[in-house]
Amino acid sequence: MTNAEYSPGLEGVIAAPSTVSYLDLEKEEIVVRGYDLIELAQKRSYLETAYLVIHGHLPDERETMAFGERLKEESALPKGAYSVLEALPRQTNAMDALRTGISLLASYESPEVLQDNSTAANLIKGLRIMAKGPVLACNAYHAMKGQPFVPADPKLGFIENVLWMVHGKQPDQESTEALDLIFTCYIEHEMPNSTFAARVIASTLSDIYGAITGAVASLKGPLHGGANEAAAMMLLDILKQGGPSKAEEYIMDMRSRHERVMGFGHRVYMRRYDPRAYLLKDYIPKFTHKKPEGEELYAIYRTVEEVMFRETKLYPNADYPIGFLLYLLDIPIPLFTPLFLCARIPGLVAHVVEQHADNRLFRPRVLYQGPRGLHPA
Ligand SMILES: CC(C)(COP(=O)(O)OP(=O)(O)OC[C@H]1O[C@@H](n2cnc3c(N)ncnc32)[C@H](O)[C@@H]1OP(=O)(O)O)[C@@H](O)C(=O)NCCC(=O)NCCS
Repeated sequence: MTNAEYSPGLEGVIAAPSTVSYLDLEKEEIVVRGYDLIELAQKRSYLETAYLVIHGHLPDERETMAFGERLKEESALPKGAYSVLEALPRQTNAMDALRTGISLLASYESPEVLQDNSTAANLIKGLRIMAKGPVLACNAYHAMKGQPFVPADPKLGFIENVLWMVHGKQPDQESTEALDLIFTCYIEHEMPNSTFAARVIASTLSDIYGAITGAVASLKGPLHGGANEAAAMMLLDILKQGGPSKAEEYIMDMRSRHERVMGFGHRVYMRRYDPRAYLLKDYIPKFTHKKPEGEELYAIYRTVEEVMFRETKLYPNADYPIGFLLYLLDIPIPLFTPLFLCARIPGLVAHVVEQHADNRLFRPRVLYQGPRGLHPA
C-alpha cells in the first residue's frame, strides 16, 4: 500500500455498492431508490418514503395502510425498557439513553431471531426498531426530566405520535406536516458516518440491533447529527448576547477563535447548497409566529448565513434549518438529535439489509507511522 492510497477521513472513497441512495452533485439531486428526495418530501409522506427506502418501491394505498398498522402494533415498549429508562441517572444525555434503549431491545428477541441476518428477519426487526425508536427517544427525555411517561397512542399516525409523545397533547395539523417534512428530509443520505458505522458493524455478521446501536453513537457527534442541537443553541445564544445586531460580531469572533459554526459545511456538498437545506429554508417564515422570539431568531438565522457565505463560502447543511424549525415547533433541544436518528432508521435498516445480503467484512489497513525494530529487554 502506498501513501497515495491513503485518503484522510476516507474522503472520496467508495465504501460499498448500493441501490439505496446516491448524492448526485452534478444534478444537485439526492437520489433515493431512483427518486429525488426533495420531490418525495414535497409530494409523499414520511411513511410512504420510509416504505420506499426499506422495500425499494413506493407503496400503494393498501401497502401504506398496512405499513402504518404494523408500526402501530410494534410501537409498545417492553415494560423492562421503561424500568431501564427510569434507572438511568437523570444527567444522561437523551441520545445516550436512546442508544441504551435500542441496544436493550435486542434482549427481547429470541437468540434465533436476533442472529438471523436474512432479509426477511432483518425487515421484521428493522420495523420494530423504527416503531419503537421515537417511543424510546421521547420517553428517555421524560425520564431524564422526571416527567411521567407518554406511550404511543394507537389512534394516532406515526408523525402525530411523535408530537403527542413530546408534548402530551394532540398535535395541530401544521406542526404534523412540518415534522413529516423534516423526517422525510432526514430519512436517508447515502454514506454518512453513522450509516458507514452501521455497515461496518453489520459486515462482521453482527445483528441489526448492534449495527443501529453503533449508528446512534456515531450520529450523536456534533460533526454529524449533533449539529442540529448546536445550531439552535447558537441562534439562542446570539439572541441572549444582544439579538440580530450582534450576529455578525458573534460569528466573526467564532472565526477568530477558529471555531466551527455548526450547521454549515458538508463533506460531500463542500461549497454547494445542501438541497434539503435549500428546500427547508423557505418553510421557516411560516413557523416563526409559533414563538414570541421567532422573528428575531429568523433575522439572526439570515445574518449568520450571509456572514458565513461572505467569509467562508460555506452553505448551510440540513441541520441548520432543521435545528431552527424543531425549536419553532417547540421540541425540546435535547430531543433534536435523537429525533434525527429516529427519522434515519429506515435508511439504516435498508443499509444493514443490503450489507447482510451481499457481505464482505470491512477491514482496512493503516498508514503505519510508528517505530520499528524495537526489542524488549
Ligand atoms: C461537516 C464537516 C465535518 C465536513 O468537514 P470536512 O469535509 O472534513 O472538511 P474539513 O473539516 O476538512 O474542513 C475544510 C475547511 O473548511 C472549514 N470548515 C468546514 N466546516 C466549517 C464550519 N462549519 N465552520 C467553520 N469552518 C468550517 C474548516 O475549518 C477547514 O478549513 P481549513 O482548511 O482552513 O482548516 C464540517 O463542515 C463541519 O465541521 N461542519 C460543522 C458541523 C456540521 O454542521 N455537521 C453536520 C454535517 S451534515
